[in-house]
Amino acid sequence: MNNNPIGVFDSGLGGISVLKELKALMPYENYIYYGDTFNAPYGIKSDSEIMKYSEKCIKKLLDMRAKAIVIACNTATSVAAKKLRACYNIPIIGIEPAVKPAAVHHPESRVIVMATPVTLKKEKFVHLMKNYSNMAEIIPLPCPGLVEIIERGITEGKEIDNYLKVLLSPFENVKISAVVLGCTHYPHIKNAIKKAFEYEVDIIDGGVGTARETKRRLTIEGLLCGRSENGNIIFMSSSSSKNVLCTMKKLFEL
Ligand code: DGL
Repeated sequence: MNNNPIGVFDSGLGGISVLKELKALMPYENYIYYGDTFNAPYGIKSDSEIMKYSEKCIKKLLDMRAKAIVIACNTATSVAAKKLRACYNIPIIGIEPAVKPAAVHHPESRVIVMATPVTLKKEKFVHLMKNYSNMAEIIPLPCPGLVEIIERGITEGKEIDNYLKVLLSPFENVKISAVVLGCTHYPHIKNAIKKAFEYEVDIIDGGVGTARETKRRLTIEGLLCGRSENGNIIFMSSSSSKNVLCTMKKLFEL
């Protein structure tokens, strides 16, 4: 049993979508959410920069006595998770594009994977693509610039709709069965993505799987908290703007 908080980080607002799933599954835990807003976006940066930023995030959370770390960022997981696990002696749980459930539930159909340019280039995704391409047609779709719009707190409206229209224009006459949200920012615009298709498309993200894996690890390691009343959440950001913390809380409550 351990009543210390679970540390969760992302480049900014994205990981709030994972925090929601963690809180839903483990409401009694305390959480510290750290958004590295100052250095966002990660998804177009070099490996060494992403590694350096991820380490800083972990150190910050460990200073606040985190008992486990959830890397609520596909980009940072792809680049840094392995090395970070080798350096720290606490559970470090990552997230990856939910290609497996998408391929299993939509065999012999087309599945788009929206993610950052870095995530789609890395070994983790290349492996996923290789493993599931015989089940479904997996189409990687990098979305440069989308995280920047969401980081401004915009989750609906013209700017997002126009971005998606251009992004999805090559698929106008192609039937897509599922869209995998391979970046934790994108669940915040799930409704806009649904609306961008004229027909029903299954939208899948990795947040639930990551929450389940976190609970599984904490259980195995005997690190679940001993409380039976709601835990608290501390929101933090590397940006000094007060607006950021307000947007984090707003997105969490949506
Ligand atoms: N939300 C992150 C991800 O899941 C990072 C996006 C970014 O900073 O580019 O990939």
